[in-house]
Amino acid sequence: MRTIDPATLSYRERHQLVLSGIAPRPIALVATQNRAGQVNLAPYSFFNAFASHPPIVAIGPAHSLRTMEPKDTLVNLLETGECTISVVTARIVEQVNLASAEYEYGVNEFVKAGLTQRPSQRVRPPGVAESPYIMECILREHIPLARERGGNGNLVLLEVVLFHVAESVFVDGRIDPNRMQLVGRLGWDWYCRAFGEALFQVPRPKVCGIGIDALPEEIRTSPVLTGQDLALLASVEQLPEPNPRFPNFPEGINADDVEVELVVGEPWRALYAFLQASSADRAYRWYMLQRIARAFLQRRQVEEAWQTLLLNRRLDGEG
Ligand SMILES: Cc1cc2nc3c(=O)[nH]c(=O)nc-3n(C[C@H](O)[C@H](O)[C@H](O)COP(=O)(O)O)c2cc1C
Repeated sequence: MRTIDPATLSYRERHQLVLSGIAPRPIALVATQNRAGQVNLAPYSFFNAFASHPPIVAIGPAHSLRTMEPKDTLVNLLETGECTISVVTARIVEQVNLASAEYEYGVNEFVKAGLTQRPSQRVRPPGVAESPYIMECILREHIPLARERGGNGNLVLLEVVLFHVAESVFVDGRIDPNRMQLVGRLGWDWYCRAFGEALFQVPRPKVCGIGIDALPEEIRTSPVLTGQDLALLASVEQLPEPNPRFPNFPEGINADDVEVELVVGEPWRALYAFLQASSADRAYRWYMLQRIARAFLQRRQVEEAWQTLLLNRRLDGEG
């Protein structure tokens, strides 16, 4: 592993080290206005939410390294204390990129990027009509970062006073990521999609799991089961007992090749095929039961995975 002291890097190397590992980051498309009413728009991926009660978000506009001058967004925020943040979707990412160019102070990047100003209700800067999720924000705090050491970063805390969310992104009252089509920013020129194949769900624990340290040794030290698998097995409230009715195969099940069933991710059929073949080799049996348990875990079927592993002891008893 490389151990890197950020103080030994050039500005660019340090910047990309941060951007590449702390990723993906959401992108705030920040609209501000100066006192004269001139509108500014720019993307910021040093952006995140830090509280929801009340909703507080933060952006990190760095001073320009070339001039050490603050960016227009920060100048305007400090001048008028207001902005809107519109989230960035796959449909507008090229326009957002265009808006990130260093246009002269006073140039309206909505116009440059062909984006539409949507009037706000509680603040003066407009939102981006093409974005499905717009926040009207008030400046709460500006914290210059390590300025005494030549730092050029800024942390700007903003309170969201009003949200606007497109009807089209809701499914059963919840915002659907596949309808939002958000994109994220990584290092260098990389972006990612936060929808489609990229999505997966991890339900929060409902109970305090026994923990990996409490798993039986033959499971905890298994060369087949990964840390992820062990975490699922360890999420149960207490060590399961073998269920004498397991496996209760679905009616009409048929399978004769455990390897094929594992490849296609069919744990019930894999178990059926394996038990039909009934191997006398204990080491092989334990190995296969672990693989079948893994297949159950890949579907988050924790109880079935446990029972599959516990079958080993039952079959030992029978053998
Ligand atoms: C996707 C994306 C994310 C960006 N994130 C940041 C950021 O977090 N902080 C920053 O200082 N500049 C960031 N930039 C660069 C600014 O958008 C750029 O300097 C812009 O010209 C600033 O505009 P302004 O001076 O009108 O505020 C980002 C650019 C892109 C394309």
